[in-house]
Amino acid sequence: LSALSSTLKQPENTPHWHILGLGSLGSLSAYYLLQSGFTVSALPRTPTHLVARTLHFPLPQSAPITLSLRADDHGQPITHLWLTVKAHDTARALRPWLPRLANNVTIVCLQNGMGTLDGIDLPEACNLIYASSTNGVWRGADQIHIAAENNTQMGNGSHAAPAWFAPLQQQFRGLHWNHHIDDARWQKLTVNAVINPLTALYQCRNGELLDGGEREQAMEKLADEIDRLCTRIFSRQGWPSDTLKRSRDIAEQTAQNTSSMLADCRAGRRTEIDFINGFLLRQAEKYGIALPFNQTCVERIHKMH
Ligand SMILES: NC(=O)c1ccc[n+]([C@@H]2O[C@H](COP(=O)([O-])OP(=O)(O)OC[C@H]3O[C@@H](n4cnc5c(N)ncnc54)[C@H](OP(=O)(O)O)[C@@H]3O)[C@@H](O)[C@H]2O)c1
Repeated sequence: LSALSSTLKQPENTPHWHILGLGSLGSLSAYYLLQSGFTVSALPRTPTHLVARTLHFPLPQSAPITLSLRADDHGQPITHLWLTVKAHDTARALRPWLPRLANNVTIVCLQNGMGTLDGIDLPEACNLIYASSTNGVWRGADQIHIAAENNTQMGNGSHAAPAWFAPLQQQFRGLHWNHHIDDARWQKLTVNAVINPLTALYQCRNGELLDGGEREQAMEKLADEIDRLCTRIFSRQGWPSDTLKRSRDIAEQTAQNTSSMLADCRAGRRTEIDFINGFLLRQAEKYGIALPFNQTCVERIHKMH
């Protein structure tokens, strides 16, 4: 299960993948890429020879699976990059590898939030594929625990998926091609922007936001501001202004879940707020719109970092 070779002219259905961010989602992705018959190498943070991970799937699959990935060591151009670092680590993690990216590199960006690649000088003919996942995976050091495999959507605006997608889809549970991936990402971003900061600030599970009082009023304030912004951004296509309803539905459906932002706060890790509500604030500035309650939430989360 290790890297063999990488050239610019790999057949499009059997690419060699490099993974940047071998944490929870990156390790699960590496497993599915290997299962699909692709070769994979790791781009580790510090020089090392092999990267080992043990995957624990939920029942009925009980035996843990050990992955051993060879770290990249041959200096060939990177033609297919799987990006699964946290949003705020993207620029720093990518920088050392930029000179190695092939001009026509395919990058699968599987991250929460938006704007993670803004300001990064990617090759001209880069094929950027965004993915959005509702999987639940966590890790303790090199032990990867897969709690839930739900839905992972991927797309780049084209109707047709690349040739490598079909074999990957056969292995990767819940993977779909969505040629309206931007819509899916905006839907997810706007719900995350309501649920994530509030669960972190109130230190509560998703369902506990639905308290019929202060927390629900806070949801409404955030959602109203977000809808006002999105109505401007999507003035041509139209925006349904249903952020509050979608957020309430998700809070209800995932009532027992701990949001990733609350989990990060509890573990003393930096959160991805700058690429969720922070991204919305940057958009709002471009449109000359104020989002005061979003701003307050971002500042309060920063103080918790
Ligand atoms: N986990 C999920 O269930 C889930 C679900 C949906 C979306 N997402 C999104 O997916 C993205 C990845 O999340 P995750 O949970 O997989 O995060 P994670 O477990 O923290 O993994 C991130 C990995 O990136 C590595 N990394 C950080 N900086 C690096 C650098 N400079 N060079 C190389 N590697 C570097 C980290 O290395 P170290 O091990 O050395 O820290 C870590 O292994 C996030 O945007 C998250 O919101 C996650």
